[in-house]
Amino acid sequence: MHFFRRGGEIFWREAKFVEPAKIFLEGGEFLQEGSVVAEYLSKDLPYKLSPDDVFLTAGCTQAIDIVVSALARPDANILLPRPGFPMYEARCTYTNLEMRHFDLIPEQGWEVDLDQVEKLADENTVAIVIINPNNPCGSVLKYQHMEEIAKTARKLGVMVISDEVYDHLTFGSNPFIPMGVFGNIVPVLTLGSISKRWVVPGWRLGWIATTDPKGILRKTKVVDSIRSILDITTDPATFIQGAVPQIIEKTKDDFFNNIIHVLRDAAELCYKIKDIKCITCPHKPEGSMFVMVKLNLSYLVDISDDVDFCSKLAKEESVIIMPGSALEMKNWLRITFAVEPTSLVVGLERLKSFCERHEKN
Ligand SMILES: Cc1ncc(COP(=O)(O)O)c(C=O)c1O
Repeated sequence: MHFFRRGGEIFWREAKFVEPAKIFLEGGEFLQEGSVVAEYLSKDLPYKLSPDDVFLTAGCTQAIDIVVSALARPDANILLPRPGFPMYEARCTYTNLEMRHFDLIPEQGWEVDLDQVEKLADENTVAIVIINPNNPCGSVLKYQHMEEIAKTARKLGVMVISDEVYDHLTFGSNPFIPMGVFGNIVPVLTLGSISKRWVVPGWRLGWIATTDPKGILRKTKVVDSIRSILDITTDPATFIQGAVPQIIEKTKDDFFNNIIHVLRDAAELCYKIKDIKCITCPHKPEGSMFVMVKLNLSYLVDISDDVDFCSKLAKEESVIIMPGSALEMKNWLRITFAVEPTSLVVGLERLKSFCERHEKN
C-alpha cells in the first residue's frame, strides 16, 4: 500500500469513519502519487510517462502558479498568447516575470503568429505558453502548426508550457493532440486538471507533467525548482488524491460523449451570433467552452467600446459577457457557451434585441 503525499496513514484511519471517503476508497488500492495521471496522459503520447514525471496540484490554477514561480528570475521573460488566460498575467506580475505577448491570428483559426514570436524572444526568454484547446478562442491546434511551434521554440532555446486544461473537449474537425507529442523536439511542461473534462472545478485536482523524453527539464534543474516550490505550498486534499484512481480510470465513455454532445450543440447555437449585424465571428468554436467575436462599433449608436457594450448589456438585459479589453483585445467579446441550453437561447435573443435597439438607422 502506498500512502498519500502527506498524512497518508492518519487519513486512512480517519477515512474509515467518513461515508463519502468510504465510497471512494472501499476495496481500492492506494496508488503511487501521480501514477494514475501518468498513465492517463501516456495514452495520447508516443512514449510513457513515469509517476516521477507528474506533480499533483490544487487544480490547474496552482499548476500555473508553480510553473511561473519556478521560472521567474531577474531579467527573465516569458511569451504569453494574446488573447489568453489572465491567471498567467496575474502570476507573472506577482513574481516579477516580464511578459511579452504574441498574437493569435483570428483569420487563421487563432494560430500562433510565429514570426512575431521569433521577434519577441531573446536570450532571456524562458518559455512560450500555449493553451490548447483554447480559452478564450474556442480553437483547437492542428498537428502541423503544433510541430511548427515546437520547432520554433527549439530554435529559440525555450521550453513550451502547454495548458491542456480543456484536453479532449473538442467537437470540430481537429482532434485534441497533446503538445507532449513533440517532446522529442522541445521539452514541454503540460498543465492540466480534472476541472473541465470531468466538470468538477471545485474538486481542485490538477497536475504539472514533464513531457520531456530527453530529460532536459531535469538536467536544467527546472524539475528541482518545481519540486522546491511544491515543498512549500499546499497539496491537493488527500481525500481527492485518494479518489483520483476511481475518477480517472472508472469514468465511462458515455459520460465524456455526453459532455461533448452538449458542448457541440451549445457551440452550434452560439455560432448563430454571427447573424447579428454588429458582430463578426472569425472562427467557429471547435473546442473548450468559449468563443471570441468582434464588435463592429460603426453599426452602433451610443456605444463607445466593448466595456460600454458589456456594461449596458448587463444593465438592460441582465446578460453577462466579458469585454475583450480584459484580455487585451479591445472591441472584442468573449462568450462562454457552457450554460444550460434554454438560458443560452434566451441570452442570445436578448443580445440580439440589445444590438438591434442600439443599431444605427
Ligand atoms: C486556460 C485555463 N487554464 C487554467 C484554468 C484553471 O483551471 P482549474 O479550474 O483546474 O484551476 C482555466 C480555468 O478556467 C483555464 O481556462
